[in-house]
Order: sequence, then C-alpha cells, then structure tokens
Amino acid sequence: MALSIVILAAGQGTRMRSNLPKVLHPLAGVPLLEHVVRAARTFDGARIQVVYGHGGDTVRARLAHLDVGWVEQAQQLGTGHAVTQALPGIEDGDTALILYGDVPLTRTDTLRALVESAGTGGFSILTAVLDDATGYGRILRDDAGRIVRIVEHKDASPAEREVREINTGMMAVGGAALKRWLARVGRGNAQGEYYLTDIVALAVADGVEVRSVRPSDPVEIAGVNDRVQLAGLERAYQQARAEELMRAGVTLRDPARFDLRGELSAGRDVVIDVNVVIEGRVTLGDNVAIGPNVMLRDCEIGADTQIHAMSIVEESVVGRNGRIGPFARLRPQSRLAEDVHIGNFVELKKTSMGPGAKANHLTYLGDAEIGAKTNIGAGTITCNYDGVNKSRTEIGDDVFIGSDTMLVAPVKIGDGATTGAGTTVTREVPPGKLVVGRAREVIIEGWQRPKKKK
Ligand code: UD1
Ligand code: CA
Repeated sequence: MALSIVILAAGQGTRMRSNLPKVLHPLAGVPLLEHVVRAARTFDGARIQVVYGHGGDTVRARLAHLDVGWVEQAQQLGTGHAVTQALPGIEDGDTALILYGDVPLTRTDTLRALVESAGTGGFSILTAVLDDATGYGRILRDDAGRIVRIVEHKDASPAEREVREINTGMMAVGGAALKRWLARVGRGNAQGEYYLTDIVALAVADGVEVRSVRPSDPVEIAGVNDRVQLAGLERAYQQARAEELMRAGVTLRDPARFDLRGELSAGRDVVIDVNVVIEGRVTLGDNVAIGPNVMLRDCEIGADTQIHAMSIVEESVVGRNGRIGPFARLRPQSRLAEDVHIGNFVELKKTSMGPGAKANHLTYLGDAEIGAKTNIGAGTITCNYDGVNKSRTEIGDDVFIGSDTMLVAPVKIGDGATTGAGTTVTREVPPGKLVVGRAREVIIEGWQRPKKKK
C-alpha cells in the first residue's frame, strides 16, 4: 500500500501577529512545519505534499531543503478545498494521510496506528476527548457508537456542542474514495467553506465504516494558533527531552531550565546546570560538567571536562579534562587537546591548542596553532587581520607568552621561546630565545601631579 501524505499549511496564522508565516515559527529551533515533515518522513517511500498559501514564497524558500512536493492554495477556502489542490498527487490506490503543518508533536506510532486502522481503501480519523471542546469539530456517533458525521463548532446545535469527542484534523483515507467524496463537498455552512470533515457523512452514506484512533498524549494533537500555545508546546517538548536525558543518566539541575534545540549525546554522569542551551549536534563525554548559562552549539566535549558558567562553545572540539571559562568564548573551528585551560574573557577562533596549553585571562587567539604546555599570558592578542587578509600565528611547545604580547601575524614562535610582557612580535622568534620589544620607561624626578584649583 502506497502512502501519500498531505500536510495542510495554507492557513493565515493571524493570531501569531507576526510577519513570519506561522508554520515557520520555530519549536526547539526547528520550524513547526519541518517537525511535521520529519514525522511524515518516517514512513519509508511515502509521497509528501505540502499545501501552502499565505506567505508561501517565504515558506518554500526557507524550507527548500525539505524534499517535498509544494502545492499552492491561492485562496483559503477551507480544509476540503486545500486537500483538493493536492489530489493530482494522490493515486487512487494510495492511502492519503492528512496532517496539519501547525500541529508539530504528533508521535509517529500514533500516525502509524491511524494508517493501519484505515487499512487499504478504508477511513480512519484521529479523535480525542477534551474537557473543553470549544472551537473543534465534534464527532457524532449513533447509538451503536459508530461515527456518522462531524459537525463544526460554528454549525453545531447546543446539544451537539455538549459532545466532547473532537476531530483532531488528522485522518487516513483511501485515495479513490477521497476524490469521489471531495468532489461532492459544498460550502453551504456557517463559514461558507469547503469542509474536509463533510466527507465523513458521505462515507457513511456510501456504507463505509469510519474508524477512529486516539493519541496517547493530548500534546500530540495540540496546534499552534498563537504564541502562548507555541510556548506551551515548546515547554512540553523540552520537558520530554529533559526526562529522556535524565532517564539515560544525565543530571539536569533543573529540567525546567534546560533547552535542547538539536541532538545531545551524553556519556555517564554528565551534570548540566541551569539555563544551558544546546543547539545542533553536541556530544558530551563521561563526567562532563556544564555550568549555568552556557551555550553549546555543534561541539564535542571530552570526558572529565568542565565548562564553567557563562561560556559559549560553537563548532569546536574540546579534549579530555579541560577547564573552560567562566566567560570563555570558543568560536568555530577551535580544537583543544586534553588538559587545556581557557579562562575568563578569552576568545578563540580557528585556533588549536596542544595538550596542557593554557590561556587563562583576557586574550584573543585567532587563526593560531599553539603547542603543548604553552602558556599564553593575560592580554595577549593575535593580530591576525590587517583589514584585508587573515594571517596565521604558530606558537611551539613550552612557549611562555608574556602578558600583553601582540603577535602580529603571520608570525612564528619557536619551541621553548619566551616573550617579554608588552612585546609586539613581528618577526619569527627562534626556539629557546627571549624576545622583548618595548620602550624603556623613564622616571621623571620632581614631577607634580596636577591639583584641582579651589
Ligand atoms: C479544523 C477542522 C475541525 C477540527 C480542527 C482541529 C475542518 C472543516 N475543520 O477546524 O473539525 O476540529 O481543524 O484543529 O476541517 N488550512 C489550509 N487551507 C484552508 C484552511 C485551512 O491549508 O483553506 C489548514 C490550516 O493551515 C491548518 C489546518 O488546515 O493547518 C486547519 O485549519 P483551521 O482553520 O485551523 O481549521 P479549523 O477551522 O480550526
Ligand atoms: Ca485550528
């Protein structure tokens, strides 16, 4: 049985009060629509079509990396009209699975159960029972409990509005029947729209049994209409990720103050303090400790390393037993070997440091290669940029860079060399030598500090 998935994403999203189309608003750093496409992708070989409308060009451009068919619905005339636009991409023998681009957290096993419940050529709806069903389409059943039709809230009688079983909007239905029924859906209702939900009564009239499936968690059917709902789903998602990590052996000092916007792989006895944001792919070795207010993006942190408070690590690799921060910034392509110490207000970019190297205070190291056990003094700067070109600084093993050294790149410092405090180095320093370049200070005798006139 071939599966053809249609994701409805043409709605306006007015209540977001945003210039960004609703389905592009991120949840855990990923656009809402992309969450739905990822869930759809878990069905091997399924054809996926996205019905887009409002803000369509932005949506297509921003999600161009998704391998889906884009179908335009120029005017939003209702969910039935939206699915009709996608019919040319659905074969008669397919099962069509309808999803919403603004319902991001449906579990794939729930979708699988829905598709299986429809079977080949059948019809099944994902329904839920809510305490407050206001606004939703209600599932109406006969005395035997069989689904007979769906009535939209605005069209429902007071008695029908008492029904608490609602249509989530997700359904699986045979392609040929879907085409047949949609062709007969009109717009004679309270909203003047083509309702996809009208196909239920048409199916029943054709003698087709309409089945239903329930999700295991209410969050699975929750849509996003405004930023309050978006924040609610973000927290639900983060809580679930946090619980997974804690069950896998990670200590989170406060799961309510943890944000994962990507994938985290953590070793044993990792401890993560509050307000840590993790983006992209991050790997933490055994016993890694992350301090409060740390940002980690696309990086690998070796075992036993501590990242102290207020530090940022992006696209970098930190070796075993490192001490990073507080207030350190590792910019992309920094590579630290084991036992490296990076202290406060130290910035690295495209810089590698050998085992045991240290830069403990107030330093910029860019486009540099630093050897083992070398110590970089406070206030050191690699002058790697002349306004046009970036140049490299190479520093050997066991080098002692004195405080406030300016390393004017391109420049090389040999193994075991020393630079005196305040030196500006412009030439290669041979191994083992001391380089000092600074104006000798003068002591002015009899000098008087100016005094304020009264
Ligand atoms: C719809 C269902 C309702 C269900 C509810 C669940 C219908 C007639 N009603 O109601 O039974 O309880 O969802 O949230 O189907 N969309 C388009 N093009 C359109 C209209 C909508 O792409 O012309 C998309 C929207 O972007 C959204 C989805 O379809 O993703 C649902 O649209 P929405 O307006 O929220 O439907 P409701 O009227 O709330
Ligand atoms: Ca809705």
